[in-house]
Amino acid sequence: MGAYDPIAILMEEHEQFRERLGRFAAQMQALASPPRVPSPVVRQIAEFGHFLARDVDGWHGRKEEEALFPALGSYLPVDAGPIGVMLSEHGLLREHQRSIERSAERLAKDPEAIDALATAESAEHAIRALLTDHIEKEDHVLFPMARSLLSERELDEVAELCQAIDARRASDTPP
Ligand SMILES: [Fe+2]
Ligand SMILES: [Fe+2]
Repeated sequence: MGAYDPIAILMEEHEQFRERLGRFAAQMQALASPPRVPSPVVRQIAEFGHFLARDVDGWHGRKEEEALFPALGSYLPVDAGPIGVMLSEHGLLREHQRSIERSAERLAKDPEAIDALATAESAEHAIRALLTDHIEKEDHVLFPMARSLLSERELDEVAELCQAIDARRASDTPP
């Protein structure tokens, strides 16, 4: 394998995601049931939605769904088992992401839409629980499985695909 270790990089990204989740949770907790949501908070919610769409589902998700999982597909079923579970969790995360985005849009128009804030808060809880558990399973089950199943050559192919995705990200093309 070359210098680029795609699995190690996905794990580093997981670590960044965990930090980002913690930061957003703290931002939400700091907000004591306001009559209207201050615009910096609306911005934080919108930015979190953007982070989920772009970084989590967008770039990171592309590397898993377009590079790593298809390579593992030679050894494991893709519509069942651990890969099937990961894919369905990606789908669930996208639903929560959309509810965060919709909440941010509503609050931008109407800062007194406290029900939209409540929706964002419950999505935040759901995302934190789901993503923490998802990362745990990838780091401790799926990725070790990938390391033992994939040949050197297959891992090189995954690395190449992931590097191409990272390059698109660096040139700021939308995912
Ligand atoms: Fe994943
Ligand atoms: Fe992941």
